[in-house]
Parts: sequence; C-alpha cells; structure tokens
Amino acid sequence: MRKFGLIGYPLGHSFSKKHFSEKFEKEGIEAEYELYPLEDIEEFPVLVKNTKGLEGINVTIPYKESVMKFLDEVDEKAAAIGAVNTIKIQKGKLKGYNTDYLGFKTSLVKLIGANPMPANALILGTGGASKAVQTALSDLGIQFKLVSRRPQEGQLTYEDFNTSTPQYLNTYQLIVNTTPLGMTPKIDELPDLPYQQLTSDHFLYDLVYNPLVTAFMQKGIEAKCWVKNGLEMLYGQAEASWEIWNK
Ligand SMILES: NC(=O)c1ccc[n+]([C@@H]2O[C@H](COP(=O)([O-])OP(=O)(O)OC[C@H]3O[C@@H](n4cnc5c(N)ncnc54)[C@H](OP(=O)(O)O)[C@@H]3O)[C@@H](O)[C@H]2O)c1
Repeated sequence: MRKFGLIGYPLGHSFSKKHFSEKFEKEGIEAEYELYPLEDIEEFPVLVKNTKGLEGINVTIPYKESVMKFLDEVDEKAAAIGAVNTIKIQKGKLKGYNTDYLGFKTSLVKLIGANPMPANALILGTGGASKAVQTALSDLGIQFKLVSRRPQEGQLTYEDFNTSTPQYLNTYQLIVNTTPLGMTPKIDELPDLPYQQLTSDHFLYDLVYNPLVTAFMQKGIEAKCWVKNGLEMLYGQAEASWEIWNK
C-alpha cells in the first residue's frame, strides 16, 4: 500500500488528512494518508526507516525549517524560502519542496487575471508563510515592502501609515495578509491599515481561509477591490504535493 502522511506537533484537526483521504476514496487510489505527530524532529529518521511504503510527507508547524537537515536534496525554491512543506521519498532518497509557494503563486495569478501585474505590493507579516509569498512575488516581478510589528531595516510598520509623513496605500496595488489576524474564532481582528484609502484598483489577498470572508477582505469588498481568501492556496499546495509525489 502506498503511504503518505503529515509530520508536525501537535497535530489536531488536519486539512491534509481529510483532503487526501477523501481524494483516495473518491478516485479509487490505493493509498493511505496518516498523521505522524513527532514530539521531537530527531524522531524523523526513525519514522522514515520504519514506515513501509512511505512515499511522501507533508510538513507543518514547527518543523518546516528543522526537517531540512535530514534531506538529501532541497529544491531550489524551497532552499530560497528556507522552508520545506513537502518531501518526496524515492529509492531511499529524500527531496524537499515548498508547495505553499506554488499554491500561492498559482492562486495569485488567477486573482490578477487579465489585469496588468501590480508593480508594488505590501506583505503583512514576516513569518513562515510570508517567506513563500515573498519568493512568489519576486518571481512574478512584483516589488514588495514587508510590514511588521517589529520592523527590520527596510521594512515598514503599521504606524508608518499614520504619521505626519504617512505611507499611502495607493503606492501598493496588492496587499497580502500573511498574519493570522481574523482567523476563527477572532473573526473581528484585522491588520491596522487606513482601509479608507483602498480603491477598486487594489487586490487584497488573505492567506486566512476560515472564515471564508475575513474582516480584512470585507474592507476590500466595501471598496470594490479584487479579493481572495487562502482556500485556493490551501487546495493548491495539497495538489502540488500530490503532483510531486507522482512525477
Ligand atoms: N492558505 C494557506 O494555504 C496557508 C498556508 C500557510 C499559512 N497560512 C496562514 O497564514 C497565517 C500565517 O502563518 P505562518 O505559518 O506564516 O505563521 P507565523 O510564522 O506565526 O507568522 C505570522 C506572522 O504574522 C505576524 N503576526 C502574528 N501575530 C500578529 C498580530 N497579532 N498582529 C499583527 N501581526 C501578527 C508576525 O509578523 P511580525 O512579527 O513581523 O509582525 C508573524 O511572523 C496563518 O493564519 C496560517 O493559517 C495559510
């Protein structure tokens, strides 16, 4: 039996397990998708050695970076991002990929559609998902500024939009929320920006997918912006993993 699974800790409700189990059932694929909660990433090599038929692994918090030291090879994009969320096992060799990057990039291109590619973007948040988004925007030729609560050199902070010499949202046609603000159950939260400056030329992409319309997206809807939640990215990263495991 072909085997796939997810490592992380703790592993509660898992989109990936549900997604792949339903897919295997629906498409008559003889395979299993298991959850492998690892208290310590040092348990990873033993898991790989002892799990017969293991062909592919998804990686979630907190191991997307620390798993890299166990891999024989890391795909160029995953190396640039500095995080792996998909591993392919072939002839005993482990290769790492980042399909968050692929899922986001494909979904963003769909959102832009026939419109000209935005020249400048804001990426809200500087965590793991932000790094995949940064690489995708660079590859699409979109310049971006990072917005952080504790900005490093060259980054903006939320207060920069509200000073005597403020930053204006019209400089940035694309705004990507990579912070967890607005996620269920705290659905009223949203990044602190001057949303009254939004116009119908703006694209708002929220990586949050629960609720389907976040408070951040709602501000965009009110200003007639193009908006998207993170659901397509979530399905996109899972399907990209499946393609990698089968190529
Ligand atoms: N749709 C998808 O497929 C997909 C994929 C991956 C992640 N996500 C979602 O993306 C979000 C971020 O995930 P992640 O793995 O990147 O998390 P993470 O590594 O914890 O990073 C989140 C970043 O958001 C900022 N942040 C955190 N709390 C904040 C707050 N209260 N106010 C303002 N900014 C805050 C921080 O940046 P600063 O410290 O610089 O402010 C932090 O680095 C989560 O909601 C996750 O579910 C979705």
